[in-house]
Amino acid sequence: MKTQVGIVGAGPSGLLLARMLQLQGIESVIVEARSRDYIEARIRAGVMEHWVAELTDEVGLGARMRREGLVHEGLEISFAGQRRRIDLKALTGKSIMVYGQQEFVKDFVAARLEDGLPIHFEAADVSIHDIEGDSPKIRFTDKDGAPREIQCDFIGGCDGFHGICRPSIPADRLANFETVYPYAWLGILAQAAPSSDELIYSNHDNGFALHSMRSPELTRLYLQVPPDDDINLWPDDRIWEELQTRLTQDGDWRVTEGPVIQKGITPMRSFVCETMRHGRLFLAGDSAHIVPPTGAKGMNLAAADVKLLAGALTDFYKSGDSAGLDGYTARCLPRIWKAERFSWWMTQMLHLAPQNDDFARRIQLAELDYFTGSEAGARALAENYVGLPFD
Ligand code: APR
Ligand code: PHB
Repeated sequence: MKTQVGIVGAGPSGLLLARMLQLQGIESVIVEARSRDYIEARIRAGVMEHWVAELTDEVGLGARMRREGLVHEGLEISFAGQRRRIDLKALTGKSIMVYGQQEFVKDFVAARLEDGLPIHFEAADVSIHDIEGDSPKIRFTDKDGAPREIQCDFIGGCDGFHGICRPSIPADRLANFETVYPYAWLGILAQAAPSSDELIYSNHDNGFALHSMRSPELTRLYLQVPPDDDINLWPDDRIWEELQTRLTQDGDWRVTEGPVIQKGITPMRSFVCETMRHGRLFLAGDSAHIVPPTGAKGMNLAAADVKLLAGALTDFYKSGDSAGLDGYTARCLPRIWKAERFSWWMTQMLHLAPQNDDFARRIQLAELDYFTGSEAGARALAENYVGLPFD
């Protein structure tokens, strides 16, 4: 089988890349290790920057997002017994869109299948070959057990942090930068109406907590826990009690409780691979970088890579211009590092690190007071949160 762009991974990166190429008349084939049901049920973050929601409209798949997504014009930060609002709209002119990542995935998979375009789900033993030559290949065993090979002009490495594309680049060509945090997030999805119209990020003496949502009936909540914590030690009652303690700062406001329909613990890391291209392989999204979820940047950074990569591939196919492909890594990295900085900064400002002493704690509270109390401070936070402008 032959195609123009072979794409490994049907997460937000791979699906968006395939869609943007399709609209430019460029063919692609997606190879995905998991089943359609699995990727459509996998719960991930749910905040889209302003421009990502607009891009979703531009590629023709924004209808359900506009109907069911929740537009937020602000967020709240809770610390030292008070809650302060960051007015994103007033400070930046922009809002954010709360729409579950798996809903985005569902919309893109449905459109691709409706258009009769290929996605190979449940592909096993996926490997890539000849990335340094003119005709790279993706090999895999399809879900019926048959060996398959796709010959491509280019490969989009959209297979996430644990994928096979990044490790296919020779180790001496990789420059990796990483930090692992001394805490993790315990996340739940609850059948309960959100207790507030907006997201609440809370810095509490017991640790960080976050109130988010998916719909008027579904609340998404998170608690900072030790990185090696065991989910079995967190029965629902204990989770609710800790959420009430960490999120309830004033009077009679309480977190609305309801049946917990999903829970899990996710470790937190920051990671950047500075080589996003090797030969005809281009990495995009989590295969090239990871952010801790505190800044809600994961999916947005993936979309930013894909926007540049789709543009570069379009230039190449339309006019033979390879400047965008050659400059791909250099164009992506400044935005990636700014989002890494923001996510790292939000993380250290909002969590309690076990090694922090009383001095560090006082500095943290002063930092929160400054960035929520000063207009200049709040604007710096807001412009990063809604997404920095391109170039
Ligand atoms: N072969 C084929 N597919 C693979 C392989 C493999 N060897 N390994 C992983 N995959 C698939 C995964 O099953 C997943 O569907 O690649 C996809 C990668 O998707 P994501 O992990 O969602 O990464 P990406 O598309 O870059 O999206 C980034 O996802 O993790 C979140 O918070 C992150 O929001 C960010 C977004
Ligand atoms: C979420 O809704 O899952 C969410 C929101 C904001 C974050 C992280 C996750 O910073």
